[in-house]
Amino acid sequence: MKVTAVLLAAGHGTRMKSDLPKVLHPLCGKPMLWHVMEALKPATTEKPVVVVGHGAEEVIKDLGESADCVLQEPQLGTGHAALQAESLLRGNTDYVIVTYSDMPLLRGETFKQLVETQYLNPGPLSLLTVVADDPRGFGRIVRKADGTVEAIVEEYVATPEQREIKELNVGAYCFKADWLWDALHRIERNPKKGEYYLTDVVELAVRDDLPVQAVVLDDFMETIGINTRVHLSEAEAALRMRINREHMLNGVSMMDPDSTYIDVGIKIGMDTTLMPNTYLHGNTMIGERNVIGPNTIIRNSSIGNDCKILASVLEGALLEDDVDMGPFARLRKGAHLKSHVHMGNFGEVKDSILHEGVKMGHFSYIGNANVGARTNIGAGTITANYDGEKKNPTEIGEDAFIGSDTMLVAPLKLGAGARTGAGAIVTKNVPEDTLVVGMPARAIRKVERKSKK
Ligand code: UD1
Ligand code: CA
Repeated sequence: MKVTAVLLAAGHGTRMKSDLPKVLHPLCGKPMLWHVMEALKPATTEKPVVVVGHGAEEVIKDLGESADCVLQEPQLGTGHAALQAESLLRGNTDYVIVTYSDMPLLRGETFKQLVETQYLNPGPLSLLTVVADDPRGFGRIVRKADGTVEAIVEEYVATPEQREIKELNVGAYCFKADWLWDALHRIERNPKKGEYYLTDVVELAVRDDLPVQAVVLDDFMETIGINTRVHLSEAEAALRMRINREHMLNGVSMMDPDSTYIDVGIKIGMDTTLMPNTYLHGNTMIGERNVIGPNTIIRNSSIGNDCKILASVLEGALLEDDVDMGPFARLRKGAHLKSHVHMGNFGEVKDSILHEGVKMGHFSYIGNANVGARTNIGAGTITANYDGEKKNPTEIGEDAFIGSDTMLVAPLKLGAGARTGAGAIVTKNVPEDTLVVGMPARAIRKVERKSKK
């Protein structure tokens, strides 16, 4: 049985007041559209089809190979949008799920339930509904006296009595494919708005005496649709809580889940504790028994086990086990801290490896360096790695001792066991087990001035 999803994403999203297409606005690190596609995966067997229109280029680029796209131009309503998938899908799928791309909280389980309901339905379609006090502009589900679904009435054409109906159209449908294409050709332009409404196919089925099934959701949260940035923030808060709950149920402690911000898809090991104001973003992996935060931002980084990261910012970094850092440490792209490294306050590391047991307690910048095991980096040590044109490397051997306020002018090599005195300005390689000191600044030559203009 082939089941294919058709996602409608051609609308303008005018109410977002944005240059970015609505479906590309992110929630917990991924675009709205991505969330809907993920939820559809367990319920479908084929590659999804996305109907694009406004901002088509950007949406297609973002989707890459993950979906087939069809263009809806001009945008004449949701029924017209669904019809654009016919050329790709007619004869190629048994069932079609049509859903809107602005409903990112719908779960995989829910779509599965919808498809399973339709498998058992002798009629041509099943749809999702929800019972809620706040109608949020959704279409109302009109039922016959015998309880079966009769029609979906959009809010602005609903009679006052229909407006009181608490059962709402969520915007996800599963159709028998062949029936759908014919029905979409039969729907007529809505006289008031001049659009073809997908919701009108319900009446077509009812008119032909074909049963329409409804799956009634009880979790209103799942049906939050996004039309404005207020909705976007509500949906993100709900999604964040869903993500945090799952981590907690898997053994992660959070002192205050309301102020813990974790992107979708991040793995966190058991017995790790996240303190308030912790942000975990992008492609990040966290091991077991770590204590992270408060006030920590980690992006695209990998953390081993048993680390302590206090009030620090990490981006593109790799930490092995039992690393202790912060407060106020910063790791940038390519920082690799091996096990038992200690990094204290106001240090910055970029494109460098700090081998096992390196200590870098205070106020240092280490860039493009390879620092041997157990070496001590004194307060105020700087790798002067940039000569105005390129980045130059610094190599420091094992068990070295870099005195406070040392300037390491790269390219430079310090052998194992080397020592530098406080305030040393090191411009030449230092052999193993050798102490160097001094070198006050003095004029050596004229330089060419580079104008910024
Ligand atoms: C729609 C439903 C309504 C339902 C609500 C739930 C219709 C007529 N109404 O209303 O019953 O309660 O969703 O969220 O279907 N789109 C296109 N091409 C178009 C028009 C829209 O691709 O020509 C896309 C939009 O990008 C959006 C989706 O279809 O992702 C829904 O459109 P929208 O205008 O948001 O419909 P609602 O007014 O919310
Ligand atoms: Ca909508």
